[in-house]
Amino acid sequence: MPTLPSHLGWLLMEAPTLLVPALIFHRGKHAAAAAPRLLLLLFLAHYFHRTLLYPLRLSRRSSSSTPMPLVTAVLAALFNALNTYIQLRWISHFGFYPERWIHSAQFAIGAFLFVAGMAINIWADGVLIALRKQRSSAKESVSYRVPYGGLYEFVSCPNYLGEIVEWLGWAILTWSPAGLGFFLYTVATLAPRACAHHRWYVDKFPDYPRGRTPLIPFLC
Ligand SMILES: NC(=O)c1ccc[n+]([C@@H]2O[C@H](COP(=O)([O-])OP(=O)(O)OC[C@H]3O[C@@H](n4cnc5c(N)ncnc54)[C@H](OP(=O)(O)O)[C@@H]3O)[C@@H](O)[C@H]2O)c1
Repeated sequence: MPTLPSHLGWLLMEAPTLLVPALIFHRGKHAAAAAPRLLLLLFLAHYFHRTLLYPLRLSRRSSSSTPMPLVTAVLAALFNALNTYIQLRWISHFGFYPERWIHSAQFAIGAFLFVAGMAINIWADGVLIALRKQRSSAKESVSYRVPYGGLYEFVSCPNYLGEIVEWLGWAILTWSPAGLGFFLYTVATLAPRACAHHRWYVDKFPDYPRGRTPLIPFLC
């Protein structure tokens, strides 16, 4: 099965999230309004990092990262193209966000969750990337290590928790079927993955901290 280095896989599968907005946002009947533009800015901030900076961060670590099957990258790119189309068509055309939306408490709560979730996600991914760098420089034979510090003291996958909080913020910000749908999709994708990662850590590392939960501190 053909594979790609993981950083190139990420670049390929996330590229539509930056290309589709350039093609369709300006066609929306509300594209010139302030609130849709602010929503676009938040969306692009997430995907500028995910598409360009995250692969760059991955590429600068050890070359030992797991390659990505080409078919995974292509299917994910198709999903991202469709999802980006739906989100951006909603905010620029089908949804209606007058300027007072920006000054509402709901917008403030959504924006706070989005930015806080993104900060958690970027930080937590950085911890994992740094573990790989350590491995590379020490030439150890074990690929994976137990991450420590910050939210890692409470949950196994704070990167997924941050991502989920981010898209919860988006669902609140856009208050739309499109935003809710993507939030539910993200939970459905990342919650089982967090449980699987957690089980794997517990099985592989006998001294894995017992107090950690997979995704939500103290709960599950
Ligand atoms: N919105 C969504 O639905 C969605 C879906 C998927 C992913 N994402 C986001 O995309 C990002 C990456 O997701 P992912 O599933 O690839 O994350 P992941 O499984 O946690 O892996 C992240 C990277 O860190 C490495 N890594 C993981 N655990 C490690 C450990 N204990 N020691 C050393 N290295 C370790 C992995 O290396 P290997 O590649 O070698 O395993 C991988 O390259 C996350 O921020 C996630 O939130 C979002």
